[in-house]
Amino acid sequence: MLRFHAVLSQAATRVEDALEMLLPSTEVDVAKAMRYGTLNGGKRLRAFLLIETAGLFNAPPSQADRAAAAVECIHAYSLIHDDLPAMDNDDTRRGKPTVHKKWDEATAILAGDALQTLAFEILSAPQTAPDPNVRLKLITRLAQASGAAGMVGGQALDIAAEHASSPLTLDQITTLQDLKTGALISYAVEAGAILGKSNAANLHVYARNLGLAFQISDDILDVEGDPKAAGKELRKDASAGKATFVSLLGVEGAKAKAKTLIDEACEVLKPYGSTAENLRMAAIYSIERKA
Ligand code: IPE
Ligand code: IPE
Ligand code: MG
Ligand code: MG
Ligand code: MG
Repeated sequence: MLRFHAVLSQAATRVEDALEMLLPSTEVDVAKAMRYGTLNGGKRLRAFLLIETAGLFNAPPSQADRAAAAVECIHAYSLIHDDLPAMDNDDTRRGKPTVHKKWDEATAILAGDALQTLAFEILSAPQTAPDPNVRLKLITRLAQASGAAGMVGGQALDIAAEHASSPLTLDQITTLQDLKTGALISYAVEAGAILGKSNAANLHVYARNLGLAFQISDDILDVEGDPKAAGKELRKDASAGKATFVSLLGVEGAKAKAKTLIDEACEVLKPYGSTAENLRMAAIYSIERKA
């Protein structure tokens, strides 16, 4: 795991350097809130997945860094909005006050909105990929992964489940989590392959399983984790009525499910041999992590 932390932190440095350059640096609140909500730490797992997959398919690193920055902009926006009082109502994120606590709700909404459009602006620039077909594919797939058929759709199901008259089924919870978390994680893997002009169809199962397992481990951490290490409030999902693998299967059942998903993900990597070692470590990390 130590080796994986080193690899993850290299990807973090690369994407943060790119974000530093790409985020607006004016003194207006919305620009300051965009920087704060994006550069305030974070594990950068999505950036890592994109950079690593791009490397696997021999895409130029500078292009991968920009695409990774776009994905982290979408992710940061999703967290800023996820923390709003109308959604999960959280005061702490990445060990610091949430954006609406540091500024106000209007600034948090607008910073999220602007991070979302910035992601597409980054992808539409020729420096991200000289071939316009590659850029169009990156843009189309990100729109699908983050919109109503992706992350936003999953967040809507997550909020609706809080007031559902009966508990969600395993299939319904799987769909919810595939969308709210899985879609963007899968996109990160796919985008690396798009940049490398490769069809990574066989990585689809890896990405999907990792996305699901990553959210299951977030839900387990909500019960068992250390809020200091996680940098956010925990022990909230049950009282909020969140539909998770833990609410349905219990902690042990959820752990078993996550382990099965990750074993399957590692199996899919076998044909890549040692070139996929970092991706294999990422899969294991996604369920062993403490933050
Ligand atoms: C938190 O994502 C929200 C989920 C989808 C579980 P991360 O755990 O990747 O958050 P950061 O980016 O490291 O803060
Ligand atoms: C958030 O899931 C998923 C997103 C798309 C932002 P959670 O609501 O469980 O994430 P945390 O626990 O607040 O980080
Ligand atoms: Mg949420
Ligand atoms: Mg939340
Ligand atoms: Mg959570």
